[in-house]
Amino acid sequence: MPGFETINQKELNQIKKIFTVGKGVLFRSGFDKLRGKSFQVNEFEKKFAKKFKSKYALAVSSGTAALRVALAAIGISRNDEVITQSFTFVATVEAIIESGAKPVCSEIDHTLNMCPYDLQKKITKNTKAVILVHMLGSPGYVSKIRNICKKKKIYLIEDTAWGIGGKYNNNFLGTLGEIGTFSFDFAKTITTGEGGMLLFSNKKYYLKAKAWHDHGHENNPKVPRWEDTRSSSGFNFRMTELQGAVGISQLKKFDNIYKKHRKNKDLIINKIKKFNEIELRTTPKNCRDAPESLIFSFKNKKLAHKFRQRLFKKGYSTKILPEALTWHFAGKWSHMKELNLKKNNFFKKSQNYLDRFVSLQIFYNMDKKYPQAIEQTIKEIL
Ligand SMILES: Cc1ncc(COP(=O)(O)O)c(C=O)c1O
Repeated sequence: MPGFETINQKELNQIKKIFTVGKGVLFRSGFDKLRGKSFQVNEFEKKFAKKFKSKYALAVSSGTAALRVALAAIGISRNDEVITQSFTFVATVEAIIESGAKPVCSEIDHTLNMCPYDLQKKITKNTKAVILVHMLGSPGYVSKIRNICKKKKIYLIEDTAWGIGGKYNNNFLGTLGEIGTFSFDFAKTITTGEGGMLLFSNKKYYLKAKAWHDHGHENNPKVPRWEDTRSSSGFNFRMTELQGAVGISQLKKFDNIYKKHRKNKDLIINKIKKFNEIELRTTPKNCRDAPESLIFSFKNKKLAHKFRQRLFKKGYSTKILPEALTWHFAGKWSHMKELNLKKNNFFKKSQNYLDRFVSLQIFYNMDKKYPQAIEQTIKEIL
């Protein structure tokens, strides 16, 4: 959880600018005289778009909000179907339900992301969009999925909550479909406490999203905000200036966070790659992951759970796999009636993968004894 691990005086200094450059305006737009030249959210958006090589960025109040706004931007509504994957966080499916569309989940494959073959089977004449999740930082077979979407004229949204800084064929994750969404919640690589971002290459979707996340406001420069023009209704998913300021400061630290993550992850991989009995999660060729997690599988569920228990006793923990499937696996979401789990299958293929995998958090300030503790634990249980 490096975002919060790296928070220090620099974030505070950036926040102070809201009160020194301006007079403490915490709203992202308007109040020009009071705010001086302090536009924190605007600046964060511009810097984020530049950093991740996209044309337009829109900051919002959370990663969940980013998904909901993305669906609004492409015009998803009732009677539409949106396909995502069985291994994700509930937020991805919640955003689809909130849009009024029917959520459908595909199986995952050995990348632990959307299985392109199962995706093809789940597409119907009502399918309007796919939300591809780069779950826990690593992409799946994006090219195959993108080709399917292009052929069937289906929008592709990337849920990049965990994938910031990852690349596929040299392009940043989050820039491969129509819209990419990001999360800056407290557990993410960079954090604004709560917060999210959308990236777009198409101005039309950007403008629709920008208005929709702000009650339909078009921010028409010719009129004051209270007389602003609007073409559709919307909602309030705005980011505050406080979050924007923290985001600017966190973004400056991103390269360093990424490097440190990579280094710490490699230290662990070097210790465990000798074990033939474990298998690292598959990352497709020509891509780089966001190295915030390290994921590998054992031969069976029993060993995966045994590993977690032993590691726990040594004072360390696993993250999400294998312990937190209730929040991250659609096969467990009987509370979401819209998924219709009784009628559909229960994602047997996905369950088979997820049961055997463990996921480790890579910390920015990694305990020096951590790689060895992992190596030792694997040795003990095999
Ligand atoms: C895959 C995925 N999508 C979306 C979200 C939602 O992000 P947020 O917590 O910022 O709303 C999360 C949060 O963990 C997530 O893991």
